[in-house]
Amino acid sequence: MRIGILGSGRMGGKLGTLFARAGHDVVFSYARSQQKLERLARDAKGKAHAGTPAYAARHAEVILLAVHWSRLDDVLGQAGNLSGKILVTCSLPMNANDTDLVVAHTSSGAEELARKVRRAHVVSAFSTVPGEVLFGVFEARRKSNRPSLLYCGDHQVAKGAAATLIKDVGFTPIDAGPLRIARHIEPFSLLVAQLAYDTDAGPELAYRFEPFPK
Ligand SMILES: NC(=O)c1ccc[n+]([C@@H]2O[C@H](COP(=O)([O-])OP(=O)(O)OC[C@H]3O[C@@H](n4cnc5c(N)ncnc54)[C@H](OP(=O)(O)O)[C@@H]3O)[C@@H](O)[C@H]2O)c1
Repeated sequence: MRIGILGSGRMGGKLGTLFARAGHDVVFSYARSQQKLERLARDAKGKAHAGTPAYAARHAEVILLAVHWSRLDDVLGQAGNLSGKILVTCSLPMNANDTDLVVAHTSSGAEELARKVRRAHVVSAFSTVPGEVLFGVFEARRKSNRPSLLYCGDHQVAKGAAATLIKDVGFTPIDAGPLRIARHIEPFSLLVAQLAYDTDAGPELAYRFEPFPK
């Protein structure tokens, strides 16, 4: 797939690198320095380059949104027209202090995003994993006990693309249903962060859903 990264920080930088290593064609965009984007593209050791958000959006069929909620309007403004694009978001609607969700219960960041970019196909994915585990999960991707990763959305083709990317990075994708389920996934992401950073579990935490035998 051709993938544009909007927000090349802890999540976007790592996920873009792994998408490139998995064989996708990646454009890194939106960081405070062009040198950082170029370094990410060089270090990805795959088909990767640096560009502006507008270039990343034009180039890509799939876009990963990985910015702080406060940067959302800025990055969308710079990206321009996203009609028909698959927009995978890991961005949580956090307040400025990163202490709480500013959208919750009756809506979600993913649904707010879908309202802003009505012609894009939004999928919520990757918000439930601490960025620190991503390389380790990728390294272990050939093992059978892969961790699970939840995703949700309303557009089947977009969800299929997201599931492929989730598998390529080394997780077992779990389809949690329509986009409105992000109202439950986003608070769950905060719970994972709480366990990862404020308990002994550490950021290596990744979860597995085990079905009971029938
Ligand atoms: N980190 C995690 O483990 C994790 C896990 C789950 C979900 N999330 C969600 O993922 C999203 C991204 O988180 P993150 O940890 O990856 O954040 P981050 O490391 O701060 O990355 C954000 C990116 O936006 C860029 N940026 C910020 N302000 C900018 C500006 N004025 N102009 C241009 N670029 C700018 C940053 O540039 P620089 O690179 O120059 O700083 C960085 O590349 C958030 O919504 C977060 O809630 C994060």
